[in-house]
Amino acid sequence: MNVLGELVVLRAMRVSDADSLWRWNHDPDVMRFMVEGYPQTPETVEKFLAERGRNAYGDTLFGVESRKDGKLIGLVGLQGAEPETGNAELTIYLGEKEYWGQGYATDAMRTACRYGFDKMRLHRIWLTVVVGNDAAHHVYQKVGFVDEGRLRQASRRDGQWRDVHIMGLLEGELR
Ligand SMILES: CC(C)(COP(=O)(O)OP(=O)(O)OC[C@H]1O[C@@H](n2cnc3c(N)ncnc32)[C@H](O)[C@@H]1OP(=O)(O)O)[C@@H](O)C(=O)NCCC(=O)NCCS
Repeated sequence: MNVLGELVVLRAMRVSDADSLWRWNHDPDVMRFMVEGYPQTPETVEKFLAERGRNAYGDTLFGVESRKDGKLIGLVGLQGAEPETGNAELTIYLGEKEYWGQGYATDAMRTACRYGFDKMRLHRIWLTVVVGNDAAHHVYQKVGFVDEGRLRQASRRDGQWRDVHIMGLLEGELR
């Protein structure tokens, strides 16, 4: 079942989304603050979606669709959820750059976190963000995430080691 936000709908990923995902993963602007991984073919991405797209409690992956025009603009996922701990890690990115700066990530974050707390009965959602990714850090703070710590030189970008913030949001803190 799709998850409705104000500006976005979260939906299962399809194998036919592979071309978009491949394009985003090879766009340096999109990947600037993210772990790039190794170059992949569209066929490898299709295989990934056939497996990861299945969705289960410990591993959800949603496509973020704009409600205005039904276009797939990014991804949000909750990984590593366990009923015993009620913790899961959130990852998000919007690959369609012309949709940046219009509130889509803020709404996708709120919608995914609401799903995590209400449907998955999580207690804590956490994420990491590279120091210097100010737009993402701002969005996470805006929806209620707080800085919990700083991982020293945990990321490498443009030949430089960078620290990484670890942020957390507890049940009841979503704004
Ligand atoms: C970061 C990202 C998720 C933001 O998505 P978005 O849809 O543009 O975000 P929103 O429009 O909801 O909100 C952007 C907010 O950041 C602010 N912002 C933009 N650039 C900023 C900057 N350089 N410094 C601080 N704040 C900034 C905007 O003013 C806005 O805040 P406001 O609503 O309080 O005015 C998106 O650009 C993206 O996916 N980027 C590439 C991948 C990435 O970095 N993902 C996160 C990895 S942890």
